[in-house]
Amino acid sequence: MKLGILTGGGDAPGLNAAIRAVGRRALLNGDTIVGIRNGWAGLLDGGDMLRLKRPQLSGILQLGGTMLGSSRTNPMKREGGLDEVLTIIREHELEALVAIGGDDTLSVAAKLAERGAAVVGVPKTMDNDLSVTEYCIGFDSAVGVVTEALDRLHTTAVSHHRVMVVEVMGRDTGWVALLGGLAGGADMILIPEFPVSVDEVVAHLDTRRRAGSDFSIIVVSEGVEMEGLAGKDDAGATDAFGHVQLGRRAVGETLARVIEDRTGHETRATVLGHVQRGGSPSAYDRIWATRVGASAYDLVRDGSWGMMPVVQCGAVTTARIADVVAEQRRVPRDLYELAQVFY
Ligand code: F6P
Repeated sequence: MKLGILTGGGDAPGLNAAIRAVGRRALLNGDTIVGIRNGWAGLLDGGDMLRLKRPQLSGILQLGGTMLGSSRTNPMKREGGLDEVLTIIREHELEALVAIGGDDTLSVAAKLAERGAAVVGVPKTMDNDLSVTEYCIGFDSAVGVVTEALDRLHTTAVSHHRVMVVEVMGRDTGWVALLGGLAGGADMILIPEFPVSVDEVVAHLDTRRRAGSDFSIIVVSEGVEMEGLAGKDDAGATDAFGHVQLGRRAVGETLARVIEDRTGHETRATVLGHVQRGGSPSAYDRIWATRVGASAYDLVRDGSWGMMPVVQCGAVTTARIADVVAEQRRVPRDLYELAQVFY
């Protein structure tokens, strides 16, 4: 069998581990594996691919990013784009396609599967917002980065008696903020799922000062809506899937200025940005990316098109790609309330 593999959307630590798992399983079974460069862009305009053999699939487990390159190219934005993808798959005689990505990449995969393409998915997104699955490649590594950053920022917060505002990614859900904040001992976590007003932030900071804590660490998710902050629609640029580039709203810096003005406490902002997607994958991401990658190969061998591995109750199982992208998984109230215990 000749199979192709691609990674689409934002890069994330663990992608190479998944590519390695699919590829090495394929080679063991005597299949031919081809890497498609730069996400869906590699299946447009004639195609852009490279043959993957044992040397390309060795020594990549610990590497961040994706050896195949990625992009936010959306074939559905182009007239006849999906047909073009199907034609290129046919022309290059790909008998199966493994698409590793988040809701954008996987929604294209779901559409291709609807049209009869031999495609399986793999869950990846540092945002952790895919439904049905408890695991997405890159999320654990991102939470690790936030946790370490909070540990470091505590030093300055305590020494200078400051408020430190830490802006983290996560798009429209607060998973990275909430779990990073929980692990790093944040004194307040602001996420899109549970809106809080500036008055409530100020009141909380005052309460902490009165209780003897003369510093605070506030984690704010890039996707929060709050008075005084630019609305999501005012952020300007959008990507090919129509997502606003939330980093441009500068919610961390704006919130820091508002807090300083309202409380008089010296306040600084830190934007963790793409640092959260960089570097080596955590051990957890290496292990689970390997497990879902290996399982994606099993789906290919079984001809289970339109399906993908997901993690539920600590085990790998399978689900329809269309179900995984049907809705966004949001932070549940009980987890949010657990973090509040430590404010
Ligand atoms: O979806 C992953 C993510 O890192 C989001 O958390 C963030 O909003 C977005 O990608 C940033 O996209 P880009 O890398 O295109 O700036």
